[in-house]
Amino acid sequence: AKKLGSKKERTLAMIKPDSITKVGEIIQKIYDANLIVTKAKMTKFSWKQAADFYSEHQSKSFFNNLVQFMTSGSVIAMELMGDEAVSVWRKLLGPTDSSVAQKEASTSLRAQFGTDGTKNAGHGSDSLASAARELEFFFPSTAGHSPSSTAKFTDS
Ligand code: TYD
Ligand code: MG
Repeated sequence: AKKLGSKKERTLAMIKPDSITKVGEIIQKIYDANLIVTKAKMTKFSWKQAADFYSEHQSKSFFNNLVQFMTSGSVIAMELMGDEAVSVWRKLLGPTDSSVAQKEASTSLRAQFGTDGTKNAGHGSDSLASAARELEFFFPSTAGHSPSSTAKFTDS
């Protein structure tokens, strides 16, 4: 039964390169939390793609380390759907810094599978606006306005 006042949302979840072998356990936790996986894509970031994805952090001291890590192996991007998906997935991830997450003796994904403030197992959109932008990044809508991404799928 749908809870009164709950909101169906979509969010962008990403399994980072340090946790790619934990994909089974992570997807299990997603379903256990009453979210569903509605899209998924395994890919490897180029430096430019990772820098674009994290462009809000480009002036930060940790930016190069972050992009280095994000390009070090494959990632899995997923669209998750469910009641309050944005905050439910962020809660499953736990604190940004995995060493902090571990001190909380937490069962969060970052406590279990991450290492430190950079190698932290996963990403989750921090708002509905971020989710819309980040979902478009990985799963661009093909309707109408994106000639460069649709061109390769179109007969000519
Ligand atoms: P941020 O958006 O602050 O955290 P979150 O992923 O929880 O939304 O930061 C983005 C990523 O940047 C974070 O997941 C890991 C990396 N990062 C560092 O490497 N060092 C830092 O000090 C911070 C704050 C983030
Ligand atoms: Mg963030």
